[in-house]
Amino acid sequence: MVQPQKFNVEYSSPITYNYLTRSKGANVISLEVNGKHHKVNVSPDVPLLWVIREYLKLTGTKYGCGIGMCGSCTVHIDGQARRSCQVPLGDARGKRITTIEGLPEDHPVKKGWIEEQVPQCGYCQPGQIMQAAALLSEESNPSEERIIKGMDGVLCRCGTYPRIKRAMRGVIKESKKGISKSPLGAVDWGLTVGKASPSGDGFSPSPWLLITPDNIVTVIVGKSEMGQGVSTSLPMIVADEIEADWEQVRVKMAPAGEEYKDPVWGMQTTGGSTSIRHMFGPLRKASAAAREMLVSAAAQTWTVPVLECEAYRGRVRHTESGRSLSYGQLCQKAAKIPIPPNPPLKKKSQFGLIGTSMPRLDVPDKVNGSAIFGMDVFIPDMLYAAVVRPPAYGTKAISSHRKAAEKVPGVRKVVDLNRRIAVCADTLDAAWKGRDALQVTWDKGAHPHLNNDTLEEIFVRHLDKRGKSARNHGNVNRAMNRAVQKIEATYILPYLSHATMEPMNCTAHVREDTCEVWAPTQDQSGVLQTVKEVTGLKPEQIHVYTTYLGGGFGRRLESDFVEEALHVSKATGKPIKLIWTREEDMQNDFYRPATCSKIQGGIDGKGRLIAWAHKLVAPSIFSRVYPQMVTDGIDPAAVEGAVGMKYEIPNIHVEYVRIDVPVPVGFWRSVGHSHNAFSVESFVDELAHAARKDPLEFRLDLLKNHPRPRRVLEVAAEKALWGKSLPKGHGRGIAQHFSFGSYVAQVAEVSVNEKDGKVRVYRIVCVVDCGPAINPDTITALMEGGIIFGLSAALKERVHFARGGVASANFHNYEILPMSQAPEIEVHIVKSDAKLGGVGEPGVPPTAPSVANAVFAAAGARVRRLPMKPETVMGIIKEE
Ligand code: FES
Ligand code: FES
Repeated sequence: MVQPQKFNVEYSSPITYNYLTRSKGANVISLEVNGKHHKVNVSPDVPLLWVIREYLKLTGTKYGCGIGMCGSCTVHIDGQARRSCQVPLGDARGKRITTIEGLPEDHPVKKGWIEEQVPQCGYCQPGQIMQAAALLSEESNPSEERIIKGMDGVLCRCGTYPRIKRAMRGVIKESKKGISKSPLGAVDWGLTVGKASPSGDGFSPSPWLLITPDNIVTVIVGKSEMGQGVSTSLPMIVADEIEADWEQVRVKMAPAGEEYKDPVWGMQTTGGSTSIRHMFGPLRKASAAAREMLVSAAAQTWTVPVLECEAYRGRVRHTESGRSLSYGQLCQKAAKIPIPPNPPLKKKSQFGLIGTSMPRLDVPDKVNGSAIFGMDVFIPDMLYAAVVRPPAYGTKAISSHRKAAEKVPGVRKVVDLNRRIAVCADTLDAAWKGRDALQVTWDKGAHPHLNNDTLEEIFVRHLDKRGKSARNHGNVNRAMNRAVQKIEATYILPYLSHATMEPMNCTAHVREDTCEVWAPTQDQSGVLQTVKEVTGLKPEQIHVYTTYLGGGFGRRLESDFVEEALHVSKATGKPIKLIWTREEDMQNDFYRPATCSKIQGGIDGKGRLIAWAHKLVAPSIFSRVYPQMVTDGIDPAAVEGAVGMKYEIPNIHVEYVRIDVPVPVGFWRSVGHSHNAFSVESFVDELAHAARKDPLEFRLDLLKNHPRPRRVLEVAAEKALWGKSLPKGHGRGIAQHFSFGSYVAQVAEVSVNEKDGKVRVYRIVCVVDCGPAINPDTITALMEGGIIFGLSAALKERVHFARGGVASANFHNYEILPMSQAPEIEVHIVKSDAKLGGVGEPGVPPTAPSVANAVFAAAGARVRRLPMKPETVMGIIKEE
């Protein structure tokens, strides 16, 4: 009998996958948390984590894995850092417990975190801070090695390790720089009805802006904040163009609605590194119009010509008389003035905020633990749900112990969903206990033999199939016949999990005539559509509130977790909070597609690349999510980065072979670029070596007419001291890639231990040209994070499949990069007036190939398969 909710933990762990088990009466336990005494009536073997979160509602302490491997749940117990998911409540009795909320606001670590602008999504940060605070209280001046060792068990999926190290060094040095305080306070995500919408007697000439008589300029952000900094960058654009004083700006998260649809996509969606690119123009135009209306309102008030009035830092001044009025004083009059259709925009030279590294507005709340993620939502009278899902693709339930589940104290209802069964209960512990009591028996499913080996065999076999031509230029066959050197290589990349540090979750309340959803979503339009389908309600009856997202990376473009919560709420008529466990999250993902690429290149007698033939086997994401975008059988996401490479090669053919296997695939940070950049940039390196040319020079030759990628390559090479000698066993590798409108080049420096194949990446230099830099420090942070994300995939990640389903379950068998393997990262942003490019994703693609190329330079081992685990590298070293 398959028990999908159980797994074997491969290391000793006192509490594994344990759920709250409320006992009757006899277990009233006294706790001291943050100096306050609490009495809780909970079984003593319940993990402290869930008591802190679900009973005491101190939600700064986060759930990330439940098995002691991520550190998100770190608290102090009698001054020691402990994983609260691993501490039975009984062991905490009589101890002094401190959570992130109890660490003083002026604690040097909290201040250091703000000063260095550490958080991105922020979900792991309370755990990081608690761990750092404990470490620094034990040792006031720990060595670098000690810092890394001490912090290594706290994982950050956003890759904030470089900043964590800097923040800790800053704390150690007792930096005198002072704290970059946000002047604006918290971002208000408007988690209750009506709060998020502009209202009242203010001036709201566009859905993104509200100016009220209290002189507050509220910017309503229609994009999700998942660590990429939109809740600061978008308000910066508005504030700059409207000429507001930054001190008077407030930020609210928009509700889901027509008016907040992305102007290019026609959907309210955050993805594709488009938030700034798509919103920059519309926000500026709307803000310029508002500014002109305020100026006109002032001119009317003073009965003077408009030309004698000017806006400056939240006021309009009459230049002749020196009189001035605030935006708050002018807003009601401005509201009566027609909106100018073509307001003049500020010149770039007049920008005051755009182009400046502004402290992020979401950082303080992410540091003090008050930021509300989806997991942290509490609604009065809500119930909890847990869902049993098929353990393998195509399996069906044969039997279940429904009655046993219904008998669990606190269980309210067992709900049949399509091929899944939900248990709804008063408490989280009862829901999870009820789910375990179901003891579902599943059939073998349609693909019992599916595993990593069978999948790879199918992918490789597809290389023999004829595909669709995705790019065809010149005559590759003829050129290959002329080539004096022909080389060929096959690259194999695995399925990858998103592994957002905050597992999927949703809170929903379906009533007869209305529905509310609280969700960490990247796709409000998708959520609205899901609600419509599940409830049949009209758009005006649906309210969707977006919380902070504990990482997105494309996973939260899906609404599967919302749909489950909706169904259970509909069946019970109650507000439902659904929390996926890490295991459920990892086993029910829409994975980054595995791919298999065979590339052939032809070099002429002068060492020039004259032919390029790339055959790519990949599943299709778009055929599921946006089938209308699949034209002539080509999935644009599958071939991106392969068809769009900038190298000028006279004869190119890119062929796409779609493969259909049961593993569901979805958008994963940098999508097709994440795998195609590896194949393309690794093969370019192979060609350079075959042509006996320097890999940098070889690339520059192929980019003669492309100044932007040339420039990022040249700057990266210069900053990384390309060409300078390194010790034996060390090497540099270079790669560049164009994605999401931006050019990024990276040079990796690695060492390879030829005895055990261990690769150590100790430095990565990154150069980005993303057009005008709106908030440069955020760009730097996202490049750092993208590099860590890409490096994690390069060195560690691979989804394991067995018996027709996903065997990867948690961070013990789906490893992500820890701090100890994070390199020093140096980011350079080149000045550019080119069109705005994205920054959330473009840092990822060049990392894996630059590291693989560096491994070749260091050890002569050509890595053509990821992840490059030591055994993989060792095998190649032995072969060659
Ligand atoms: S270590 Fe406790 S939740 Fe991950
Ligand atoms: S900031 Fe660490 S997981 Fe996002």
